[in-house]
Amino acid sequence: MKGVILAGGHGTRLRPLTHTGPKQLIPIANKPVILYAIEDLRDAGITDIGIILGTNMPEKIKNALGDGSEFGVNITYIMQGEPKGLAHAAATAKDFVDGDSFVMYLGDNILKSGIEEFVDGFDESEFASRLLLQEVEDPRQFGVAELNNEGKIINLVEKPEHPKSNLALVGIYLFKNNIFDAIDKIKPSWRNELEITDAIQQLIDEKQSVDSFVVEGWWKDTGKPEDVLDANQLILETIDDDISDEAIIEDDVKLKGRIQIGKNTTIKSGTVIKGPVVIGENCQIKGYVGPYTSIGDNTEIIETEIDSSIIIGNSTIHSDKRITESLLGENSKIITDNESYPKGRSFVIGENSIVKL
Ligand code: DAU
Repeated sequence: MKGVILAGGHGTRLRPLTHTGPKQLIPIANKPVILYAIEDLRDAGITDIGIILGTNMPEKIKNALGDGSEFGVNITYIMQGEPKGLAHAAATAKDFVDGDSFVMYLGDNILKSGIEEFVDGFDESEFASRLLLQEVEDPRQFGVAELNNEGKIINLVEKPEHPKSNLALVGIYLFKNNIFDAIDKIKPSWRNELEITDAIQQLIDEKQSVDSFVVEGWWKDTGKPEDVLDANQLILETIDDDISDEAIIEDDVKLKGRIQIGKNTTIKSGTVIKGPVVIGENCQIKGYVGPYTSIGDNTEIIETEIDSSIIIGNSTIHSDKRITESLLGENSKIITDNESYPKGRSFVIGENSIVKL
């Protein structure tokens, strides 16, 4: 089998972070979200992976992942260009897939359980497609599946206003080669996209069998800032202790819970860190770092309390107010200045930024 990871799209719901790069590179526990998909495919024995690229700085994805050898896979890049829908993206991978069965993995999805169990036996099965489903509270923001009494999918609708069930489509799909014929037959939806749900519905209408699998462990679509922070929390729940021998931990530092610290990072005297927390390389940390915080490389935390946040990297934070549930892009600065006049808060913030005071 092959793997196809979708890494196009504009990522509008994650602006301003996506003004400077694709959303699939946003780090969760200091690792780009797309790497979780690559590792899931690799762990399921799928090492030939096509990555579909869009127009939002695709070269950043190529630079981050290279030919995939660093991660034990073999990557082919495929250009989609403008995001004309998930089925359009899938169709651009037809030559790469070259008649094989494949897993299509949305590059902003993260799944606790991995995909081994899901992939098992599909290639030899009679099914044209296998879908992953999960019960969610509000299915209106997802593709929604309606099942019959035998648990077979009879109907799929993309982001319905009045969902017929609470079973959302997880962004990981298994297909045989005939999905490409189905895609050829569908028309763009009301939002002018070729929807993968319509292509699967086409398979169902042609009486092809479509299998489904309800996932129990957590699943996150990291399309919005709050989902990114949730995913960060869920992944940090699973980390082990790992403090580099090349990190410097000064005297009078309190470390509690599971903590990872990269090389050349200094934890200064008086600091308290309560895990789970991940801190990258070349950081200077003084203050309080609370649970569910990921701090990227080359970051300075000065006399600051922070928790439940992601600092992507190369940033400086010196704040007399606690920072919580925040998502900071690269090269950010938050600085308390009680000395100079005029007193007041001063901002230089980009389009689509959010500041809560
Ligand atoms: O996360 C699960 C949901 O993903 C499913 O329940 C929905 O049925 C499915 O349509 C999809 O909905 P989203 O609104 O979350 O899709 P989004 O536009 O965010 O695109 C998902 C990924 O695919 C994202 O990494 C960007 C990439 N993409 C998207 C489009 C439209 C492409 O590579 N090309 C595209 O043309």
